[in-house]
Amino acid sequence: MGTLKFIKNFIKDRDVASITPTSTRCVVKVCNHIDFSKDILIVEYGPGDGVFSRYLLDHMTPDSRLIMIESNEDFARHLRESIADPRAEVFNILAGDVIDIMSPDDIGKVDYVLSGIPFSFLKPVRKMKVLESTKTILRAGGKFLAYQTSGHLKKPLLRVFGNLETEREMLNIPPYVIYEVKKNGV
Ligand SMILES: C[S@@+](CC[C@H](N)C(=O)[O-])C[C@H]1O[C@@H](n2cnc3c(N)ncnc32)[C@H](O)[C@@H]1O
Repeated sequence: MGTLKFIKNFIKDRDVASITPTSTRCVVKVCNHIDFSKDILIVEYGPGDGVFSRYLLDHMTPDSRLIMIESNEDFARHLRESIADPRAEVFNILAGDVIDIMSPDDIGKVDYVLSGIPFSFLKPVRKMKVLESTKTILRAGGKFLAYQTSGHLKKPLLRVFGNLETEREMLNIPPYVIYEVKKNGV
């Protein structure tokens, strides 16, 4: 898959929100926030054609796991067909419904939630559902990493998590703000 497939899905599904996969430079910048030396559980919202997913799987330990949540049926099928890795699972659902598909044993144990979904397209109630669910599935000290086209997520993130750090990646189409928030507590 690549830019052409991305454009086709973008035309059919506005939630795809980008005409091209994220650049390698931006993928590395976001993933620099992840400690790959440990066994980790990662949940990825909006993997698209899997540009982050493949990087994660290449860097994760053999006992780490990746749960991908993708709303677009075509991308979800492509991910299932192209990623043959026992550490990875793909679910064709909305990010806000993540708790429905997670094993109760994994809820509250997730080390990182990585997200590329266009939060600015979500209605406020849906946006808060995604952020609250994310907080529920993360372990204390776990991190939510999101790349977005603007700073619009600051307020809702501060409301739910109470902390926030940002950096920018301008050499991407589109340029992204990268957010890192931590789930505090014991
Ligand atoms: C901007 S693209 C990012 C794709 C890929 N992660 C990348 O960086 O190239 C957004 C992706 O999120 C998916 N998406 C949008 N809304 C979603 C939602 N509510 N739940 C799950 N996936 C969603 C889209 O189908 C698309 O694959």
